[in-house]
Amino acid sequence: MTNPADLDMAKVEQFMHQIIGDLSACTAAVLIRLGDRLGLYRAMADGKPVTSTELAELTGLAERYVREWLHAQAAGGWVSYDPDTATFILPAEHAALVADPDAPTFLLGGFDWIPSFWADADTLEAAFRSGAGIGWHQHDERLFIGTERFFGAGYKMNLVASWLPALDGVVDKLASGGRIADVGCGHGAATLLLAQAFPDAQVHGFDYHDASIAAARSRAADTGLGNVKFETATSADFPGQYDLVCLFDCLHDMGDPVGALRHIRQSLAEDGTLMIVEPMAFDRAEENHHYPLGRMFYSASTMICMPSSLSQPGGLGSGNQLGPARLTELAEQAGFSTVRVATTTPVNLILQARP
Ligand SMILES: C[S@@+](CC[C@H](N)C(=O)[O-])C[C@H]1O[C@@H](n2cnc3c(N)ncnc32)[C@H](O)[C@@H]1O
Repeated sequence: MTNPADLDMAKVEQFMHQIIGDLSACTAAVLIRLGDRLGLYRAMADGKPVTSTELAELTGLAERYVREWLHAQAAGGWVSYDPDTATFILPAEHAALVADPDAPTFLLGGFDWIPSFWADADTLEAAFRSGAGIGWHQHDERLFIGTERFFGAGYKMNLVASWLPALDGVVDKLASGGRIADVGCGHGAATLLLAQAFPDAQVHGFDYHDASIAAARSRAADTGLGNVKFETATSADFPGQYDLVCLFDCLHDMGDPVGALRHIRQSLAEDGTLMIVEPMAFDRAEENHHYPLGRMFYSASTMICMPSSLSQPGGLGSGNQLGPARLTELAEQAGFSTVRVATTTPVNLILQARP
């Protein structure tokens, strides 16, 4: 350790602020998730000032807990506080991101991940020591729900409006029918949007995880859509021929992505299209060392994505920050002839690959 007298105290203080800020965010996380689960943000969505007593009545919760929760929200800048009237307001701009779980702008779904990360922390610690993988199916189920809710909002926002139109000729073809496979579909958040957007197309969701397929089937039954079905299958053995195959945030989770891409290529019609949706990443690791997104991506990669890939045959363990050059290389190794970045968002990279 460096002698304390030789330290640059301004840098120590700056890092101390960063650590306390991180600890503050971690401490608030349980309460943010409760605000979502207990309908507290939803009850404040109209932007009207409320006292803790009024909010407790609106939500049927205990006032003393609600009051302390509100002060924690005010301290974090999520709500504003008027000391003269002891009222709190959730500003409309904040409500747009936290109050309506069905909105495409809803951002709190990812807070379901937090309890799953902690529930699986001992398994991860053992994996750090042994080097063993951890399968997607081995995680706490709140990981699957958080993924459905957090990624699902992004799909609602982008999939039909901008990602599919960025692919050559795909929207026109599917408008008059065709067959779509969503491989590694999880709870089917994107699969169901595809089935809704293209009622004349047949949409098939595949995932190796039985429990996710069961959840997807139940979601599909709730929608009443007749053109979607879900089956348990891996990316290397799912059946059928398709005009569009989609991989939403799952290629990097696979142990043998090239093997999966080879099977997908054989499953595509001659003029079919593969859409690869991956977390946003640049080609050089140092370009992905940014806050807050890069840190979130690499942390999830360390806890979930890389261990998933290590757990499967092939065990590539690429991590989720592949970047366009590496993704293109994987698709070309699998025999795809043309690969291009179709579009991007701050959090996603969308590639089109043609057989
Ligand atoms: C991050 S989740 C994404 C789920 C879904 N595509 C979404 O965006 O909501 C990754 C999914 O890939 C699935 N998966 C991982 N490896 C797979 C494989 N080899 N074959 C099929 N599914 C796989 C996991 O079970 C999990 O549901």
